[in-house]
Amino acid sequence: MSKRDLISINDLTNDEIEQVFAVADEFAADMRGFGSLCRAHIMATLFYEPSTRTRLSFESAMHRLGGNVITVANMRDSSSSKGESLADTVRVVGGNYADVLVIRHPAAGAARVAASFADVPVINAGDGGHEHPTQTLCDLYTLKKQKGHLEGLDVVLCGDLKYSRTVHSLAYALARFSANIICIPAPSFEMPDYVLEKLAGEFRCEPERFQGGEFDALVEQADAFYITPNRPHQLSLFTDAAESRAQKRRLIKNIDAVYMTRAQSERFGSCEEAAAYPRVNEAVLSSPGFQDAIVMHPLPRRDEIAYELDRDPRSMYFQQAQLGVPIRMALISVLLGQRPLKRPAAPRARVVVPGLGHLRCGNEACITRTEQGGYLPSEFEVVSRLPFRLRCAYCETVRPATFVGDRSRMKVFPAESNDVMAIAGTEITAFEDVAAYEAEGYELERTT
Ligand code: NCD
Repeated sequence: MSKRDLISINDLTNDEIEQVFAVADEFAADMRGFGSLCRAHIMATLFYEPSTRTRLSFESAMHRLGGNVITVANMRDSSSSKGESLADTVRVVGGNYADVLVIRHPAAGAARVAASFADVPVINAGDGGHEHPTQTLCDLYTLKKQKGHLEGLDVVLCGDLKYSRTVHSLAYALARFSANIICIPAPSFEMPDYVLEKLAGEFRCEPERFQGGEFDALVEQADAFYITPNRPHQLSLFTDAAESRAQKRRLIKNIDAVYMTRAQSERFGSCEEAAAYPRVNEAVLSSPGFQDAIVMHPLPRRDEIAYELDRDPRSMYFQQAQLGVPIRMALISVLLGQRPLKRPAAPRARVVVPGLGHLRCGNEACITRTEQGGYLPSEFEVVSRLPFRLRCAYCETVRPATFVGDRSRMKVFPAESNDVMAIAGTEITAFEDVAAYEAEGYELERTT
């Protein structure tokens, strides 16, 4: 049986997420009652970035299941400081050392690299600004407990939507559960285009987007705030989707949750200031539209949630952290085969196009840019032909190309040419500039 990893929240179907919750319920009802379920198993935690909740809740979860834990709390104390590659580290630790690896790393896509080199299941505990799927499981589990269901919730995502990996994973999951997402970023911390493209392209979800720092505007007008519901099956009945969306705008009466995040200052330079950062306090929660809103945060917080809210019954951030233990117990026991999932209907396939490995990912924080040694070639999927757009198979950021080539004919076309549509999917390649295609012996074809 092939191993299961959890790299993206999209590695689990909605039904599987519910199955994990059912297992978590079983454990939560008797936290000391499963002390032999994973006996004789070892979990390794490899954290290349700081962590309190994620690492300790994973380790607590494994101890509560009767398993053992090995850890390098600070990977600066490991051989990575001697220049060892991520691939070599996980090949060794995922050999006889451990049966499951939990990894946190500053580079986006690192967990995918670990999964492809380790023989044992790999769990992504946060890879740069990309994803944090186990936090999303805690978030969804909290939402389900508080709201009774996950379908069609109205959720505000607030703060640093650009670098918060928790927000990216949560947005995908909410979209898949037909939520209505309202984005209120801090100025210059908007949701990245690649996340928005994926939400629209794969999950037919278009978040309602406020400009940076307009939290107060939403709070003041929440009782007259219209959104376009995210109901894909209804939209498809209309030929003019834009018009139908406009017609279907509806008043939000109650926001179900405000999900706040801190500025991820470890990921941006001094040029990007967290000015006018939105904040949640008692005044916000007593505004019309917010009375039933629960307040969520992956923690740690700075001052984006006022301490005065800690005793408010709608504040759920400590609850989210508590639920992290049964959720991670469930995930570990699932991946170790002690509580197997029903087989998914159709496993997700990644379509990586060969022949694009010479192009570089545009994201400097991508693992393909940060790993040394040249062992990790770039890999891309083609997201669209016109305009020609490529998605990095590791960090998922999307980039254009200037010329698109046909490998079977050694010809290139300007990326905006219609001829790009006719190239066979297996033969496609792409180049930054004239020098790049000439160096490979390609010639420019007259275009239509
Ligand atoms: C988050 C993270 O590491 O991305 N923390 C967590 O795991 N609960 C959020 C953050 O650090 O801001």
